[in-house]
Amino acid sequence: MLAMNYRGPRRVRADQKPEPKILHPGDAIVRVTRSCICGSDIHLYQGLVPDTRVGSTFGHEFIGVVEEVGSSVQKLKVGDNVLVPFNIACGECVFCKQELYGNCHESNSQATAVGAIFGYSHTAGGFDGGQAEYVRVPYADVGPTVIPEEMDHDDALLLTDVVPTGYQAAEMGGIKKGDTVVVFGAGPVGIMAARCAWLFGAGRVIVIDREEYRLEFVRNYASCEAYNFEEMDDVVLFLKKQTDWFGADVCIDAVGADASGNLLQTITGKKLMMQAGSATALHWAINSVKKGGIISIVGVYGPTDNLIPIGNVLNKGLTIRANQASVKRLLPRLIEHVLAGRLNPKALITHRFPLEEVAEAYHIFTSKLDNCIKPVLIPPSARN
Ligand SMILES: NC(=O)c1ccc[n+]([C@@H]2O[C@H](COP(=O)([O-])OP(=O)(O)OC[C@H]3O[C@@H](n4cnc5c(N)ncnc54)[C@H](O)[C@@H]3O)[C@@H](O)[C@H]2O)c1
Ligand SMILES: [Zn+2]
Ligand SMILES: [Zn+2]
Repeated sequence: MLAMNYRGPRRVRADQKPEPKILHPGDAIVRVTRSCICGSDIHLYQGLVPDTRVGSTFGHEFIGVVEEVGSSVQKLKVGDNVLVPFNIACGECVFCKQELYGNCHESNSQATAVGAIFGYSHTAGGFDGGQAEYVRVPYADVGPTVIPEEMDHDDALLLTDVVPTGYQAAEMGGIKKGDTVVVFGAGPVGIMAARCAWLFGAGRVIVIDREEYRLEFVRNYASCEAYNFEEMDDVVLFLKKQTDWFGADVCIDAVGADASGNLLQTITGKKLMMQAGSATALHWAINSVKKGGIISIVGVYGPTDNLIPIGNVLNKGLTIRANQASVKRLLPRLIEHVLAGRLNPKALITHRFPLEEVAEAYHIFTSKLDNCIKPVLIPPSARN
């Protein structure tokens, strides 16, 4: 089959690889009809995630058709159209029982922190992902969800990650009615977090990024204010001024390890890799939230060390909440929001590439070229 193949930092290509097989009675094989590239894949692509092995296939956002099921699978049948959450979760362990599907203790043998994630390095379990024609889906009775008949498949695709992650970012912010919420990052996740902040009762939503086309997009899509940090001397001061010098009630980090905007962080985090990514957006979030405020982190950082101003967290009495999104927990209510028209995820999709052009797609998305917000990859077997 054709699949994305990681060859080392900033080198990916489409190659022939063996088709996946059922390895466990609970597995399913899904024929992928479309997949996305995510900001999380940029961290892998840049070589920022430990134990990202040459030869692996990325892709944790995909939908497809069930091609084969293992002998114990009960809820899926061959021919079902499914959306597959990016977390691989057993559904049975102590963490899954608490609906912490991103922290499953069984799916990832390195499970001290994260559960397994499709196509996300051996740190996250070493499973191949869905930027391919076929993918093996473990615990097939737990994650995969049949796409409702009336749902557009582009919407279903974004329900595998972007929508739940943006929603959970807002949810973890503990937004109260009238709160001022600042979202760092106007990528797909930040855009969705800004949109969802209103659903939780925000009174004011401000987004910070440096890509003008994304700021323009989020202003319209999420009816919010949006500002370019490259036009400011000091982002924290700007945000304090915007908020009667108190700071925002809630700050959301939807940027993660690839943040720009601070030379020291960029050099130590991205060039020399002395810390697990650049923590610039997190710095700004901690310093521009008000005393007693809440920081919600969905931007991904590698384990283990980061230069973050923990003293300020203590002295300001902040609450920090962070996690990989628990997609399965959120799906029922988000499917409802999408079908009712309260969320319109597919509007984020700006580009479609044949899987053969995966290298070009990574380059355009990572370098923020051609006004790209969310690129979709279409495998050859889905184009007939
Ligand atoms: N927790 C989860 O479950 C989960 C799921 C999906 C994605 N993520 C993470 O969310 C983050 C965003 O994902 P995405 O797909 O939107 O990525 P993206 O790369 O498309 O967007 C990130 C945006 O941040 C902007 N940016 C860079 N430095 C900044 C700074 N200092 N301040 C403000 N903005 C800055 C970039 O210009 C870009 O527009 C990534 O870290 C990704 O790994 C987490
Ligand atoms: Zn993703
Ligand atoms: Zn589990």
